[in-house]
Amino acid sequence: MCEKPLMSLDDLLINDCAKQIIDGDSLDVMERRAYTPPMCEVFRNGPTALEPQNQYRFDINVAAREQLPHLIENRVEKVVTASGQQVDGYSRPRTIGIVFSGGPAPGGHNVIAGLYDAAKKANPENKVYGFILGQDGIIEGNVCELTDERVNQYRNLGGFCMIKTGRTKIDTRTKMRLSIGTCKKLGLDALVVVGGDDSNTNAAFMAEAMKDEGIQVIGVPKTIDGDIQVKDSEGKSLCAISFGFHSAARSFARNIGDLCTDGSSDVKYWHFCKVMGRVASHLALEVSLQTHANLTLIGEDLAEYVDQERVEKARTEGTVDYTAYGMTLRHLSRVVCDAIVRRAAVGKNYGVVVIPEGVLEFINEVQVFIIKLNTIISEYNDVHDTDFHSDFRSLDDKLEYLRRLVRGIRKMGPETIWNARDDELFSDIPEFFKAGLLMERDSHGNFQFSQVETDRVILELVKDYLGILKEKGRYKVGIEDTYFTNTLARAGLSAESYGPVIFRNYGVGRFLLVKEELISLKTLKQALVKAELMEEEDPVPAAIIKIYEKSVPNLKVQTHFYGYDGRGSDPTKFDCTYTYNLGLTAFSLIAGGSTGQMVGIRNLEKSFESWEPLGIPIAPLMHLEERGGKMKLVLEKSVVELDSNAFRLVKAMREKWMAAAPGPDRYRKPGAIRFRGDLEEDKPMTLSLNSL
Ligand code: FBP
Repeated sequence: MCEKPLMSLDDLLINDCAKQIIDGDSLDVMERRAYTPPMCEVFRNGPTALEPQNQYRFDINVAAREQLPHLIENRVEKVVTASGQQVDGYSRPRTIGIVFSGGPAPGGHNVIAGLYDAAKKANPENKVYGFILGQDGIIEGNVCELTDERVNQYRNLGGFCMIKTGRTKIDTRTKMRLSIGTCKKLGLDALVVVGGDDSNTNAAFMAEAMKDEGIQVIGVPKTIDGDIQVKDSEGKSLCAISFGFHSAARSFARNIGDLCTDGSSDVKYWHFCKVMGRVASHLALEVSLQTHANLTLIGEDLAEYVDQERVEKARTEGTVDYTAYGMTLRHLSRVVCDAIVRRAAVGKNYGVVVIPEGVLEFINEVQVFIIKLNTIISEYNDVHDTDFHSDFRSLDDKLEYLRRLVRGIRKMGPETIWNARDDELFSDIPEFFKAGLLMERDSHGNFQFSQVETDRVILELVKDYLGILKEKGRYKVGIEDTYFTNTLARAGLSAESYGPVIFRNYGVGRFLLVKEELISLKTLKQALVKAELMEEEDPVPAAIIKIYEKSVPNLKVQTHFYGYDGRGSDPTKFDCTYTYNLGLTAFSLIAGGSTGQMVGIRNLEKSFESWEPLGIPIAPLMHLEERGGKMKLVLEKSVVELDSNAFRLVKAMREKWMAAAPGPDRYRKPGAIRFRGDLEEDKPMTLSLNSL
C-alpha cells in the first residue's frame, strides 16, 4: 500500500485549515461578538430622564441613617424618556469610570458594552475608563480608556477579561483618599461599580464620600450566587436576580445533567457535586430544577430541620430537647445516607447529590465555630495590630493558639469565647476541615466557603454512618426477583426454597432484600444449614454466593466542584440582554444625576417588553451583620425562601427525583447553553416559578 507523504511542519503551520485552528476564533465567539442584544423600549426612544417612584418604601436602619446621611433619602427612580431641557443634560460631555469587583459573572462585558454604547451615543466626546484589576485599579490609578476595538472584542462573551477584577475593598481613609485622587485626576463625573452585595455596600460608602467632590457612584448587581434580590418593605420586587446567576446555573446543570447520564449508564458511582453560591442555595435549587438530580441539599431547608424522634421522646418525658431543633452534621449525613440506602434497596447503587458550597453555614455546630473563630481572629488582629494568619502560618500554630486560649494563658477578650467544650468538639473534626475553618477570611470578612471541601466533609460522615448501617445489615443492594429466580434455575436450585431463607421480602417486592442478620457468608451458611437446605460440611452453592455478593453494597464516590468553570462560562441570552440593559441603565442614572443607586430592571420574570429599568437606593437596603467579629452595615443577602414556588416544587418532587423505587430515574437533560436559535430558555426557572 502506498503511504501518503507526511506534510512538513512548515507547510502545516501555513496551511489554511491549520491557521484557522491556531489563530481563528470559534464560530460561537464570532457570532457572539456580532450580536447586539435588544434594548428596553425606553432606550429606543432617545435621551432619558429619571422619575422618582414614591410607591416603594423601605424600613430604614438607624445606623444606615447615621453613616449614609446624604443617600438615605434616595428614592427608587424609573428611567423615562427625556423631554425639554433634560435632553441637553443627557448629552453634556462626561467622563465615566467602570470597575469590576469580586468574582467574575457571565455578562459583565455587556454591562461595559451597554454603558459605552449609551455614553458614546449620548455624546461621542464622552470618555469611558476601565479600572484594571478591581478596586486596586482605582486606588493605584491603574486604568485604560475603553475604545470601540476593545469593547467589540468582548461583546456577549463571558469572564471579566477586558479589565480583570479583584477583591480589594476601599475601606480605609487612605484608600478612599487615594481613590478620590485618581477619580479627580481623570476628571471623572461618575464611577460604576459592578459587584456583589459587599461591593454595592462599598459603592454606597464611596458615593457618600465622593458626594462633595461631585463624583457620582452607581452600583450594578452582579453575582452568580443569585443572592442580590431586592424587594421593598411591602414585598414589591425591584431586582429579582443578580446577573450571571442564570448562566452559571445553566453551566453547572449541563455538567451535572451529563453526570446523571453517565451515572445511570455505568451504575457504579455516587457523584457528590458541590456547587458554588457561597451561603445561599439559590444555584443548587436552580440546578435541581434543571437536572432532577437524586438529592439536592438546600441549606435554608436543613436549618429548619426538627428531629421528631427527639421531640417526641422529650415530650413523653415531660421535657423539651432544644438539641432536636436545627441540623447537625450527624443529621446531615443521615439525610444523604437515607437516599443512598433507599436507592440501593431497589438495585440503584449509584446517584447524583447536589451540595451547595455554603451548606455547612446552616449546620448548628459549624455556624457556631465560624462565628467564634471570626471573632477570635479579628480580636487578635485588633489587639496586636497585626495579622493572625501571618503570625500563625501553619495549622498547628493556629491550633496551639486556640489551646492556649483554653488554658487561659492569653488574658484577653477571646478566651471566654473559646472554651474547653469548643476545643473538644473542634478536635473531633478532620484536619482538612479544621484548616478550612481557620482559613483567612476574604477582604470583606466573609468566610471562604469555596475553599472548604464541603463535599469531603459530608462524604467522610456518610461513609462512617453507612459503615454502621452495613454492620447492622440495613444497607443492602436489592436483587431483582427475576434475576434471582433465573440464576438459581440455571444452577438447578429452587428459588422457592432459598428465597424465604435469604430475603426479608421474598414474594412481596420486585427487589429482594437480604435479611438484616445475614451480614456475612458465614451467617448466610448458618441460615441455610438451619433451614436444612445444605449440610454443615458442604460449600455454599456458587449461585447463592453470587447473589449474596451482589447484595453487598460497595460505595464508590466521585466528588466534583462546579464553580469557577460556570463563573467563566459565556452568558445565556437572558444574561446578555439583562446586562446590556443594565449598562444602558447605568448611563441613564448617571445622566439623570443619581448617586448611591444600584441599577435594576423590574419585571425580569415577565416578557422582555415589560422590563422596566430603574435606579434602586442602596442605603435604605442596608442592615447590620456580623463581619469579622463586628457588626457592620451591609446590603442584605437574600437566601432561598422556603415558601417560594421554586423551593416548594423541589420539595414536592424530592421523592420522585430520588427515584428510590423500581423503574427509571427522573433525570432531566438541560443541555449546553445555546446562543443560536430559539431553543434556550428565556429566564432562570426559579424566576419563572416564583412569579407564578
Ligand atoms: P461574588 O460574590 O464576588 O460574585 O463571588 C461569588 C463567588 O463565586 C462565590 O460563589 C464563591 O464562594 C466565591 O466567589 C469564591 O471566591 P474566590 O474567587 O475568591 O475563590
